[in-house]
Amino acid sequence: MTQKSKKVRKAVLPVAGLGTRFLPATKAIPKEMLTVVDKPLIQYAVEECIASGIEHVIFVTGRRKSAIEDHFDLAPELESFLEERGKTESARTVREIGGDLQFSYTRQSAALGLGHAVLCAAELVGDEPFAVLLGDVIMAGSPAPATRELIEICQATGGGGAIHVERVPHERLQFYGIIDAEPIQAPAGAENFAWSERLLRVNNLVEKPSAEKAPSDLGITGRYVLPPKIFDYLAETKPGTGGEIQLTDGLCRLAGDGELYATVFQGRTHDAGDKLGFLQATVEIGLKDPKLGKPFREYLRSLKLVE
Ligand code: UTP
Repeated sequence: MTQKSKKVRKAVLPVAGLGTRFLPATKAIPKEMLTVVDKPLIQYAVEECIASGIEHVIFVTGRRKSAIEDHFDLAPELESFLEERGKTESARTVREIGGDLQFSYTRQSAALGLGHAVLCAAELVGDEPFAVLLGDVIMAGSPAPATRELIEICQATGGGGAIHVERVPHERLQFYGIIDAEPIQAPAGAENFAWSERLLRVNNLVEKPSAEKAPSDLGITGRYVLPPKIFDYLAETKPGTGGEIQLTDGLCRLAGDGELYATVFQGRTHDAGDKLGFLQATVEIGLKDPKLGKPFREYLRSLKLVE
């Protein structure tokens, strides 16, 4: 098997950030453990991994993040407590949180940027393509799981990197990595994939540009599938402001090689690491909840906020 056709089995979930936008909630609790409806944010990303065929999740953690390890660990006492009281459904929920995934943990000793966090996982990933999911971003409502689409693009393009982008309003361009890209024809054999009509080749990326300097209105959402050579590029990247190594710098090198593709995500992206994004995620996901949706909608109607 050539390196380019290797299966995407592993996903890196960097969770070592300080969550400063969410203080004081995140002083002692990891941002990724904040709950949207009935699940911590990070569980949405792990469920996306399961739905995308990932076998091994690698968390890049830091200090004050042990709640994440506990959440995905077995909880035999809790399970037997629930079973003994006939709460079989709750016991199953607890047991099945991590599916059949293998979990590994590595540490980022200081929050030196997303690129640095990904680089911390290099040894655990090894010489194979891998996914990266930002644990505070929920990608919902698309017919196919976001990461699965990117895995399809990576494989159809012979091992190229793949990212999801979304249209960003003018006044928010400065908060995103913005791509300079052009539409291309999908590779032969990929015509039946949902993304085949909306495949882009990325020429360059600019991290948090002013609206005047932004090369487009397409911003990176928080899902990536990357070839292992990104680790060499990140290792060679010089730290920028605050000593941080940005993932965007590594992505720019991939784009320079003509090996970075993008597609516009068809579902809804929630940046739940931001207070407004978190509230929007809670309302939208709450409204879709099979049990809570109806009474919650009625409650919102009573406030005269929705039709
Ligand atoms: P964010 O920039 O959204 O997270 O990074 P942050 O730095 O924790 O948040 P603020 O801006 O201070 O509020 C996206 C993801 O990358 C992780 C974060 O934990 C988050 O899940 N990350 C970020 C790291 O693991 N290490 C870092 O050095 C930076």
